[in-house]
Amino acid sequence: MFNFILLLLLLQILTIVKSQLLTPSPSVRTLHSSIYTFDTSTLPWTAIPDNEKTLFLNLFSSVLSGGVAASYGGEKNDTIYFINNENTTSPSVLTFNTSDNSWLKYSSISVERPIGRNQMRPITDYNGKIYLLAGFPFTTIQDVTRNQGGMFIFDTIELSCVLKDAIDGMLRVEYSATLLPNGIIVYMGGKDPKGPDGKPVADGFRIVYLYNTIDNTWKPQPTFGDSTPNGDNGISSVLGLDGFRIIVFGGHNIDNKMLYVLDTTTFNWYEPNVSGKGPTLKRRDHTANVIGRYMVIAFGSDPNLKFDYKQNGENDVLLLDIGNSSNYNWVNHFDPNAVVPPQSPPQSSTQYNNKNDTGIIVGVVVGVLGIICIISLCIFFFIKRRKNLLHEKALSIPSNSENVMAIPSDLELSSGRSLVKKS
Ligand SMILES: *[C@@H]1O[C@H](CO)[C@@H](O)[C@H](O)[C@H]1NC(C)=O
Ligand SMILES: *[C@@H]1O[C@H](CO)[C@@H](O)[C@H](O)[C@H]1NC(C)=O
Ligand SMILES: *[C@@H]1O[C@H](CO)[C@@H](O)[C@H](O)[C@H]1NC(C)=O
Ligand SMILES: *[C@@H]1O[C@H](CO)[C@@H](O)[C@H](O)[C@H]1NC(C)=O
Ligand SMILES: *[C@@H]1O[C@H](CO)[C@@H](O)[C@H](O)[C@H]1NC(C)=O
Repeated sequence: MFNFILLLLLLQILTIVKSQLLTPSPSVRTLHSSIYTFDTSTLPWTAIPDNEKTLFLNLFSSVLSGGVAASYGGEKNDTIYFINNENTTSPSVLTFNTSDNSWLKYSSISVERPIGRNQMRPITDYNGKIYLLAGFPFTTIQDVTRNQGGMFIFDTIELSCVLKDAIDGMLRVEYSATLLPNGIIVYMGGKDPKGPDGKPVADGFRIVYLYNTIDNTWKPQPTFGDSTPNGDNGISSVLGLDGFRIIVFGGHNIDNKMLYVLDTTTFNWYEPNVSGKGPTLKRRDHTANVIGRYMVIAFGSDPNLKFDYKQNGENDVLLLDIGNSSNYNWVNHFDPNAVVPPQSPPQSSTQYNNKNDTGIIVGVVVGVLGIICIISLCIFFFIKRRKNLLHEKALSIPSNSENVMAIPSDLELSSGRSLVKKS
């Protein structure tokens, strides 16, 4: 499930973010679609057509308008869906088709207008439905006020949306969500939706919430272990390659560790073994996704909305090799050909097979918070497309040629403008 163009897109969309939000950045490079490998310190960027005029700056902003939520969907998983927030003057849903680089605006969506904010973590299931948990009070287009929040289920294939009740405990934002292979979404962490200074939910990790996408039911699930994280928000989570471990990174709470793992067969928390030189500054409001054997973490900020990791010499994109679950490894080099090792199944096979919301397995996807929601999607798409490309290339590239190709041009970003420069 690798799609290179999508990674490409990811990088492209990152550029929008970069060029619009960050001040003059050091030279950022264009990624040509034939590059297969990169180093996180020289990550190349390029712009997608019409991005600035289609995706307004304030649609990305967490401060001005609540931003957008973004996830992938469509029949071929080839499209990114930007779900607008409560701003009724801009289109409800904006799509970017990664196959033909086209943008589309949908001003109305049947039944219910979905609400997306960058404080939400959208999840796309295996049937093209995006689950948007709005953990804050809102008013629907029918003028119904929902003080307990709600779950929007946006079908990207039918282009329709329904609204369901959320469970009481999920009135929160900046949570994380992880789709398990059995169709259950695990929600955890987050903070009080009221105001920018909302407190993290104290037992945000001691009780996680299981939402079953198949029958629309919720269940609180206590967790165990001495390493249970304290309440935190702005975290990210991904599903491990084994399909049952949820890896949680970052967050606001500096007393928490950088990484935790929840084994969903036992709901036990532990701190993983980690080697390699990882980040020293904690990040929040970043995104994380799984590509190949890497957990790919992108952007983020610190609790004061600064980007101090740059001063600290850390890269926008971090790579954690999660191929060996007894020892994760921070790396700088992305090798798309790195073998994804076979994973040992969960210890307790009885729990593994228990369908009653404890049977847990594989998946992908993670989250999005802040401006960066988009990145993850793009990476996902990029890698997926890439695999196809590799297939095609396999026929045409002589066996001794390198997979790594030269970068054809540089894209210099400064003061919000992109200038193309010959290398
Ligand atoms: C994206 O574009 C391709 C090529 O035009 C098309 O086949 C595909 O159906 C489009 N996807 C969506 C979700 O519209
Ligand atoms: C709503 O979106 C439009 C752009 O479509 C923008 O001009 C306007 O400022 C936004 N309103 C708010 C309250 O963010
Ligand atoms: C879209 O992605 C989902 C999740 O990865 C997968 O289950 C589904 O088969 C994909 N659909 C297509 C048409 O590739
Ligand atoms: C950490 O590594 C040690 C030594 O390799 C191993 O015994 C232990 O099981 C590992 N712990 C975890 C949580 O994977
Ligand atoms: C995984 O890591 C552990 C601990 O470092 C090591 O003992 C083991 O050999 C590794 N497994 C593989 C397949 O590399």
